[in-house]
Amino acid sequence: MTAELTTIIDLIRYGASRFNAAGLTFGHSYDNALDEATQLTLHALHMPHDLSPVYGQARVTAEEKSDVLALFARRINERIPAAYLAGEAWFAGLSFKSDARALVPRSPIAELIERGFEPWLGGREVLRALDLCTGSGCIGIAMAHYNPDWHVDGVDLSDDALALARENKVRLHADNVRLLKSDLFSGLQGEHYQLIVTNPPYVTNAETDALPKEYSYEPQLGLRAGNDGLDLALKILRDAPLHLDREGLLICEVGEAEKALVELLPELPLAWVEFKVGQMGVFVAECADLVEHNARIRELADARG
Ligand SMILES: C[S@@+](CC[C@H](N)C(=O)[O-])C[C@H]1O[C@@H](n2cnc3c(N)ncnc32)[C@H](O)[C@@H]1O
Repeated sequence: MTAELTTIIDLIRYGASRFNAAGLTFGHSYDNALDEATQLTLHALHMPHDLSPVYGQARVTAEEKSDVLALFARRINERIPAAYLAGEAWFAGLSFKSDARALVPRSPIAELIERGFEPWLGGREVLRALDLCTGSGCIGIAMAHYNPDWHVDGVDLSDDALALARENKVRLHADNVRLLKSDLFSGLQGEHYQLIVTNPPYVTNAETDALPKEYSYEPQLGLRAGNDGLDLALKILRDAPLHLDREGLLICEVGEAEKALVELLPELPLAWVEFKVGQMGVFVAECADLVEHNARIRELADARG
């Protein structure tokens, strides 16, 4: 039945129909079937992601068509995220290399980076910023790209993730980024920042076990975070003041674990960021508030071992 498909737009439309019919899970980078089919089609044809729509009517050769259909089949049968099949994910307007060494970049923090962290920074000067749990390097490298006068550190526990982040640093000419291996803050003794941004693992054990197959291609180290999703976030809240200037800010994504965090620490003043699509479980904390509530945070974090 694919004999009737002749043009680029035919292939995109067909792929999207097949993806929807197969009940794929979207959201790793694009959140719908049409965008994923477009990404995979243009990748297989070696065309730019922003190809002018006029080329949609261009006919493809039999060989090109078979390459596109082969990628569609892998997406459907193996459920591999489209970003891994294409080897690329867009984040904060930048093209990152993406593969199974690190999670596909998709954090809403991209929107905060693009709006210069305002109104949260409120004109505070940033000299040094940290991207804790950097994965592919997307948050740290994007911060460095949009703020060329900042010195940005990106740290991760995973050697694989750091290897990919290093490739992305070169790819995006991020000379003001330093990448380090560290278990949270343990390798950062004596380092101080005005801004710490982090998208740590925050999926509960039960949710991680129930995730759709697409997520099984991603490193579990990037997802799993205990029974309530807060094992890492609590340690970050506990130790961030040791590495923040007194006027510094911690910006942290906890996704669905927001509810559990607010229940555990109702007295801690956290500002939950409003994104274009609403709240996405990202909070902003002032260093002074983290210091004031450190005893209670420490008690909760230490109990996690
Ligand atoms: C949710 S992913 C986020 C990756 C990237 N920042 C992003 O937004 O796509 C979390 C990352 O934390 C890293 N990680 C997990 N435990 C860690 C730890 N104890 N110390 C440092 N990094 C850790 C994982 O390897 C993974 O790359």
